[in-house]
Amino acid sequence: MPDVRTGYRSVFSPGLFAGQTVWVTGGGSGIGRCVAHELAALGAQVVISGRRVEKLEHVQAEITEDGGRCIQHAFDIRDEEAVKLANDSPYGLACSIWSQDIKRANRIARQVRVGITWINCWFLRDLRTPFGGAKQSGIGREGGVHSLEFYTELTNVCVKL
Ligand SMILES: NC(=O)c1ccc[n+]([C@@H]2O[C@H](COP(=O)([O-])OP(=O)(O)OC[C@H]3O[C@@H](n4cnc5c(N)ncnc54)[C@H](OP(=O)(O)O)[C@@H]3O)[C@@H](O)[C@H]2O)c1
Repeated sequence: MPDVRTGYRSVFSPGLFAGQTVWVTGGGSGIGRCVAHELAALGAQVVISGRRVEKLEHVQAEITEDGGRCIQHAFDIRDEEAVKLANDSPYGLACSIWSQDIKRANRIARQVRVGITWINCWFLRDLRTPFGGAKQSGIGREGGVHSLEFYTELTNVCVKL
């Protein structure tokens, strides 16, 4: 297990993560940096990621100096090539995302400009949920209370008193 400088002692068993590789997102600063140090001190090889390579290199050097194992990989976690391709369309009725990683699927769902997103399924529809498209795929939403709103023509009667 690598030594940790400044006399720091982990509350976890030494070697708890020995032989494991753990990916720490945001490992270049703040909480991620602390977690990366802790995991490396407990025997893990840590892979730290973030956008700015200079921050990652700094933390990597710190961990290596302490005798830990660390590699870094700089990238923007929101830079999804598939999202760019999907959004590069004048239409946006629906899309389907297939992934074993539900967090990633939800993150992508927030970025794709469509009216309906199915995750790990296709064409499931509860009639109470909003139906309609984005961009040139439609205006407004139908379904449940959304239908009431869409087919109701509100009028404004203004009386000067
Ligand atoms: N600090 C606290 O007391 C506290 C308490 C509760 C919750 N939190 C939450 O815990 C999280 C981390 O907090 P922190 O204090 O450690 O913040 P931080 O020092 O700002 O660290 C955030 C890290 O995420 C990376 N990052 C941000 N956007 C990214 C992106 N699009 N792609 C890849 N990497 C990205 C940053 O790397 P780059 O700079 O290289 O992009 C940075 O290393 C935050 O969500 C914060 O709200 C913090």
